[in-house]
Amino acid sequence: MRPLLTEIARGLPQTVPFVGPEAIERRSGQPIRARIGANESGFGPSPAVIAAIAEAAGTVWQYGDPEIHDLRRALASDLGVPAANVVVGEGIDGLHGLIARLVIAPGDVAVTSRGAYPTFNYHVAGFGGRVVTVPYSGYREDLGALLATAKAQRAKVIYLSNPDNPMGTWWEAGDLSAFIAAVPDETLVLLDEAYCETAPDGTLPPLDISRPNLIRTRTFSKAYGLAGMRVGYAIGETSFIGAFDRVRNHFGVTRLGQVGALAALADQAYLRGVVAQVAAGRARLASIAAANGLASIESATNFVAVDCGRDGDFALRVLKALELRQVFVRKPMAPGLDQHIRISVGRAEELDYLAEHLPLAMAEAAKALSGKVA
Ligand SMILES: Cc1ncc(COP(=O)(O)O)c(C=O)c1O
Repeated sequence: MRPLLTEIARGLPQTVPFVGPEAIERRSGQPIRARIGANESGFGPSPAVIAAIAEAAGTVWQYGDPEIHDLRRALASDLGVPAANVVVGEGIDGLHGLIARLVIAPGDVAVTSRGAYPTFNYHVAGFGGRVVTVPYSGYREDLGALLATAKAQRAKVIYLSNPDNPMGTWWEAGDLSAFIAAVPDETLVLLDEAYCETAPDGTLPPLDISRPNLIRTRTFSKAYGLAGMRVGYAIGETSFIGAFDRVRNHFGVTRLGQVGALAALADQAYLRGVVAQVAAGRARLASIAAANGLASIESATNFVAVDCGRDGDFALRVLKALELRQVFVRKPMAPGLDQHIRISVGRAEELDYLAEHLPLAMAEAAKALSGKVA
């Protein structure tokens, strides 16, 4: 009999790439006390956002505006570009799927860094493409290697994020602009700027909406504190942005998502407050690490990568020990990066809880490795 699934689908692993804190709670039977693993914003959205969502709650029987007119226009005016250069989608992850669908045919190559944020890779595989990776260089994405590999492979896409997840490092705008200018026209640069709000001045290249092979993605999930609403957007050249209408899920961005994001964008004073809290939280995380004799990497994001001081196996044991102590963190898995755990900035009480439990988790991990505990 002819199989129902396509050949591509049959060849894909059935996987849960992001084990959520909810799964950890179900497994352990105890609640997470410090939810500092998914780079969410523990500070939450602006009170104005919560009020706007509450006020609109009774209208959820209506579909959202399929053109996402108001939010799209507000974003465009904020960015200083025409609305035709902005598309709104179900988070960056949703937009990644649409971009892969638009540019990846079976056999096409996407180039990215080994251990970088993985969502785009799943979508590339889902459309029969091939992901080729290059290693990080000194905990930063290696622009030269990405470019050289993309040229050698005649890649359809280069995916990179600036600032980067999972290491939190970044390139300055000038370096990025030179990199983008050197990428051949046949290769799309997919520049993920999920953490743009927390990056230092001089990190984001000026917006260039004339370049058909450049698309930049941003989100309301991080500094705006709306991860559960699933709203992201992409900025690019008019015809490329127009192409999203060929494939997007026109009712995918929910009514409350549109309301919440619009209210979030309008409250820039709240955003500035969060960005300041994130900077203070990064410093606190670095000092918690230092108090345990651990180095941490300077970060432009809402998380800090902390070097557990030994190998990847040890870092994984620290993570597991933290999990048993009701602390949710994640970690890079790629060789060369995997000695780190990645800790999101959380509320002060969550970081206090971490400060208390990290030394205990480290001791438990060390004990387990020395064979005293199975
Ligand atoms: C680099 C990067 N891109 C995209 C996302 C996901 O963004 P969204 O919630 O808009 O799908 C994340 C979330 O961790 C991220 O780190």
